[in-house]
Amino acid sequence: MLKGVLLFLSAASSLLPSAYGIPASVAFNKRAALDDWIANETSTALAGILANIGSTGAKSYGAGTGLVLASPSTTNPDYFYIWTRDSALVFKTLVDRFIASGDTNLQLEINDYISAQAKLQTVSNPSGVLSNGAGLGEPKFNPDGTAFTGDWGRPQRDGPALRATALIAYGRWLLSNGYSSAATNIVWPIVRNDLQYVAQYWNQTGFDLWEEVQGSSFFTTAAQHRALVEGSAFASAVGSSCANCDAQAPQVRCFLQQYWNGQFVVANINTNIGRSGKDVNAILASIQTFDPSAGCDDVTFQPCSPRMLANHKVVTDSFRTVYGTNNGIAAGEAVAVGRYPEDVYFNGNPWYLATLAAAEQLYSALHQITKAGSITITSTSLPFWKAIYSAAATGTYASSSSTFSALTSALTSYADGYTALVQKYTPSSGALAEQFDKSTGSPLSAADLTWSYAAFLTMASARSNTSLPASWGAAAANTLPTVCSPSSSSSGSYTPATDTSWPSFPCTPASSVQTTFNVLAPTTPGQDIYVVGSVAQLGGWDTASAVLLSADRYRSDMPLWYGSVVLAPGTSVEYKYIRKDAGGGVVWESDPNREFTVPGGCRSAAAVGDSWR
Ligand SMILES: *[C@@H]1O[C@H](CO)[C@@H](O)[C@H](O)[C@H]1NC(C)=O
Ligand SMILES: *[C@@H]1O[C@H](CO)[C@@H](O)[C@H](O)[C@H]1NC(C)=O
Ligand SMILES: *[C@@H]1O[C@H](CO)[C@@H](O)[C@H](O)[C@H]1NC(C)=O
Repeated sequence: MLKGVLLFLSAASSLLPSAYGIPASVAFNKRAALDDWIANETSTALAGILANIGSTGAKSYGAGTGLVLASPSTTNPDYFYIWTRDSALVFKTLVDRFIASGDTNLQLEINDYISAQAKLQTVSNPSGVLSNGAGLGEPKFNPDGTAFTGDWGRPQRDGPALRATALIAYGRWLLSNGYSSAATNIVWPIVRNDLQYVAQYWNQTGFDLWEEVQGSSFFTTAAQHRALVEGSAFASAVGSSCANCDAQAPQVRCFLQQYWNGQFVVANINTNIGRSGKDVNAILASIQTFDPSAGCDDVTFQPCSPRMLANHKVVTDSFRTVYGTNNGIAAGEAVAVGRYPEDVYFNGNPWYLATLAAAEQLYSALHQITKAGSITITSTSLPFWKAIYSAAATGTYASSSSTFSALTSALTSYADGYTALVQKYTPSSGALAEQFDKSTGSPLSAADLTWSYAAFLTMASARSNTSLPASWGAAAANTLPTVCSPSSSSSGSYTPATDTSWPSFPCTPASSVQTTFNVLAPTTPGQDIYVVGSVAQLGGWDTASAVLLSADRYRSDMPLWYGSVVLAPGTSVEYKYIRKDAGGGVVWESDPNREFTVPGGCRSAAAVGDSWR
């Protein structure tokens, strides 16, 4: 795949005019260097996601099967929970990768996730219960899938819409690959509840994706609109219908227009929060609403639409002066991007997923423009284009024109600038936290944020034009009712989804299994816990070669030590945990030896959970 991309680029690079007077060969070298880093980071990001998925992920101890931790971080901040939004965005990424790659290990994770959602929908929680839909708006659950009962910004109404979109993407694959009963009997009952929720509650306020503002959030409304449009088509495809989707989608679309103030998207309305309204919320929404088959449509806020390009400039410009990392970066060049300029969380810093989103919108726009074969610059998008190509003027430029080449070349360099900043602030381990420090650029806040890794993967797909999402029907969903009228759909019915018996899909047997040892072992400072056992990977019972476990998630109420080794499928091991003190003294746990047989199927991860004896 990478070879193909490089070939395409090297063939094309000699044709590209230079951007900002940089010779095309230099621009190409920059892009090639980014290609290398992206290839490396792609495997790190995928492994980073899988590590956080229960119950076998290397950092997932405590999470139920198919449930994805927002981050393994248990303190400052404690993100050791399951968020409906983050999980859906992560699994949408995995579904698109599975469809493009055929990686059956991913499919097993996807099936587990969907089975877990059937159960999660029925869990009564502080937002409510399933029977009237209200419980579906709960944003956050405990890692084992039970209700989180602490205070929180709830409900959050984007979760059901995003989950419907993730499940529909997989449902479409099932339908077109001969598994229509799984689509109909397993996926559709879950999706139906989520669609009913969206149709019933879209016209009520809730908390935004940053869990701070109670009002109406552009990201939420955009996600809801998409879900209703593709939900209607999916309903028909499984031999059912969604009358409420059909009735409400045009109204949600009508409402979506109210966020546009003529210059940018005001992220939160129906609230009075005293902010500028500039927020990466809307850039993330443009990723969520990206339809590779759509044009540069303003009504559905496509990535290449004049509105969304104008918004991109306004939002990214708002961060130029608030972060030290952006000092000295010229106008029209990429900057580090955070959530919104007034942010004070962890003192307000750039986020990896926000900077990646700024790149991804532009790559997706480039895809749409290339496909359309022309660029139309309007008075709305002119400031965006002028910033990256000073000679830009309103008009339509066909792909055969030199202006088109100059504009797409400038757009590519500009988008790569955002990716290069993420590379610059990513440590050599490739680990992606939530934020990076606005002055020093060092990683900050939650380590291994699952959404950061997913944001990297979707950026990389958009950049290389591979494993792109399927169309959701945006091109046919861009007409507006003459009058926006509030929702008239009252209640609907909600039914627990009970069928989670997946067919046995063909799968590729695992060649090796990452096996994680988790042990709850209270220790005092200076003491370390190791695992030692009968196979070479576990030191062959030699305490000097035992495997040191990590305590980076140790908490007094969860004294966890954990670590992974790679074992062959079917291997039987005997093992024990040992404790070494600072002076080198070794204490063995009590007899008998523990035993574990590595599974022999298609799964490439396994885990044990023990308590020190
Ligand atoms: C990619 O990974 C390889 C192997 O770990 C390393 O040698 C190389 O420097 C990395 N390249 C980049 C651009 O990070
Ligand atoms: C409900 O819909 C109407 C019509 O689009 C809109 O004016 C109003 O702001 C919406 N309210 C909420 C809370 O969504
Ligand atoms: C993306 O890739 C597809 C197939 O690989 C190709 O047909 C299409 O032209 C590419 N689009 C862009 C915008 O590069």
